[in-house]
Parts: sequence; structure tokens; C-alpha cells
Amino acid sequence: MAGQRDGGSDHETIFTMETTPLKYGPGASEEVGWEIKTMGVKRVMLVSDPGVVEIGITGRIQELIESEGIEVEVWGEARVEPTAESFQEAANFAVEGEFDGFVAVGGGTSIDTAKVSDLIATHGGEIMDYVNPPIGGGEAPPSPLRPLMAIPTTSGTGAEATTVAVLDIPEKKVKTGISHAYMRPHRGVVDPTLTMSLPSQVTSSTGLDVVCHAAEAYTSKPYDEREKPESPDERPPYQGANPIADLFATKALEYGGKYLLRAVQNGEDIEARGAMMLGASMSGVGFGSAGVHIPHACSYPIAGLHPDYYPPGYPQDHPLVPHGWSVILTAPAAFRFTYEENPGRHRQVAELLSGESIDEADENTLPEVLVRLMQEVGVPRGLREVGYDEEDIDQLVEGAMQQQRLLVLSPREVGEEDLANILRESMENW
Ligand SMILES: [Fe+2]
Repeated sequence: MAGQRDGGSDHETIFTMETTPLKYGPGASEEVGWEIKTMGVKRVMLVSDPGVVEIGITGRIQELIESEGIEVEVWGEARVEPTAESFQEAANFAVEGEFDGFVAVGGGTSIDTAKVSDLIATHGGEIMDYVNPPIGGGEAPPSPLRPLMAIPTTSGTGAEATTVAVLDIPEKKVKTGISHAYMRPHRGVVDPTLTMSLPSQVTSSTGLDVVCHAAEAYTSKPYDEREKPESPDERPPYQGANPIADLFATKALEYGGKYLLRAVQNGEDIEARGAMMLGASMSGVGFGSAGVHIPHACSYPIAGLHPDYYPPGYPQDHPLVPHGWSVILTAPAAFRFTYEENPGRHRQVAELLSGESIDEADENTLPEVLVRLMQEVGVPRGLREVGYDEEDIDQLVEGAMQQQRLLVLSPREVGEEDLANILRESMENW
């Protein structure tokens, strides 16, 4: 077990476990008015996106909150692939509205937009001041933010449970984020009935994101292999694998293996939808503590360089590689690379996903299980299919190398050459 080192070494000996209090179950969102009232909030900014507004979920949540005598103003413009600019528009609305609380209803984008709006409304400053270095200033919010409740309508990001808001920097062609413990929502309400209308491609992408969060968290470099920080301030939110994160990650892997295909094949399968949603939150708790590594580091440039790809099932107004797909496409090659550092954990991930015990495993076992799942849920075969070729590898490597916050969590040290090989192998996964 991790965590048995003696206190005299210069290795980390401590890990922390912080999670968002969650309310889960079919119908849980009907209690949102009561929830907000108990948070003591009087005037709410309700952040959502046009798709969720259109199907009426946002209006219903607004009604439920207003019925408790609480004022609500809706900002319904969160966009997939948020940029500093689109965050800024929401933040301006937040500053001018003088809200004392925030509610997000939607996918990871809406939840991240609410986190950033809350940050700027509470502490002021420019968004880029808070963005992770080297791209942004890396400033930490000086004190906790105003209350934020997250109500996810997809089942992937786990954003209701995490400390990060992800954004696109189109000028630099990368994605990065703002991450700090204070960015974690104060409460989450997770209601599987809200995901019933998701197109199957969105279920596939978000579900594979869940699987990767858990697989990467579970195989990340153990927290006690990091150096001890000089002060508690310097302990990173992504701490590396630890016994509590392991619990959440392994359960999420089991759910992903058992229920993702069912949820993709039949959107009305409420048991599968519920399990994937709960899996997303559990995975979010796991990776919110342990972190993620190579597939997520590669996903940032894969999505950020914007190849000319218009995925089915998504808004067709701009090209994008859906987050879950941008992550899963390099996962088989990444786990083939990291296998030697911890064969036992890689085999366990393969077992949890396949639901079978595996006696003889090697570096190809987990990649094969992942590829089978990708084929079943209908994913592009590799990077080439979403618009990349070998000439793009240098630029992809450069973008991935900027994600040192994640790469340091790789169980095996990873450099430019290694990333180039992983990306090259990921051109076609089968
Ligand atoms: Fe993710």
C-alpha cells in the first residue's frame, strides 16, 4: 500500500481528501430549491447552455429555485470549448449582477463557466491571472468563493466534483485550466433523468472520459513518490494515487465496463444512465484527488489545435474534437507505455473494465480492452480520422509538454520522444 514511508524521508507523507457533498438519484433535481435555500443564498446567477435551455431543463430549475422566494437570473450562453473570452462574458454578467450564489445546469462547460464567474465575481482580476502557468499567471484565489451548486446534465466530466475549470486558448492553440481547491463546487445535485435526451455520441464521449479519469487516476504516480512540499500551500490539488482516490476510481471503472455500452445503445435505460452518472461523479472524486496523466495531457492539444472535424451528435457551428474522444484516442498507446511501471494496476484496470479476471497480462492487455470498448461505443479509429497526420506530431507534442501539471503524474517519466511515439501509435488504434 502507498503511504508507508518513514517520516524522515524527503518524500510526501500526507494526502488530503476533499469532495463536493453530492445528492444523487432520479428526481434529485426537484429538490434544488430546497438545497439553495439551505445554502442561505438570496440572488442566484443560473449558468447554462443554449441546448439545455432549449429542452426546458434550465427553465424548470429556475422555477424550482424561484418557488423558494429566491431571485434568479439566467445566463444561458455557455459554449462547448470555452475560451477566456467566453468565460469573460459570463464573468462580466456575474460582476454586474451582484449575485450571492451560483447554480450551473449543463455539461462540464456550464459548470466550468460558473466556477470562473464565481471566481471573478468574488475576487476580481483578470481570468488569465488565475490560469495555470506557464500559460497564465497561476495566482491563487485568496479565500473561498461564493456558494456554487452544480447540476450536471451529461455524465462525463465530473466537473461537479473537481477543482478545475478548463479553457481553450485559441491564440496559443492549447487548452489549459484554472485549478485550485476553492474552485470545487459547494454542492452537487446529480439526477440521471436529466441525461435522458443526450445523443448517443455524447454519451459515448462523456462515458469514455469517465473511464479515462478513473484509469489515469488509478495508475497515476503514488502521492508518496512526490517530494514533500515546503508548505501546505504548495501541495498540488492533483496529489497522485492514494488509498481513498483508489476506492472511487475502481468503482467508476467497474461501472464504466458494465454500463457504458448499455447507456450508448439505449438512452432510455435509466439503470445504465444512472450508473454512468454516478460513475462520473465517483470518477471525478477519484481524479479530483489523484489527478490524470498522459491521455489528458495529450487531449489538450488534440482538441486545442482544432482540426477540421465536425462530430456527429454535437452542435455543427464550429469544428471540435469532443473531450472524451480527444482523451481516449491516445489512451491505448499511453497505457502501453506506462505498463512497465506498474503492471499490477494496469491489469486491474483491464479486469474492472472487462468484468473478467485476467491471469496472464502484458503491456497489450489494457490497450486491447480499451480498443474493444471504443469499437463497441463507436469512436473514431484514431487521430487520423479526426484530422491529424504525422506532420502534426511536433505541434501536438509541444502542446502536451505544456501540461506538466499532469505529466508529472505519469507513473513513468515521459519526455518529448515518448509523447511523439504515443501520438504516432494513436493515428490508428485498430
Ligand atoms: Fe476529462
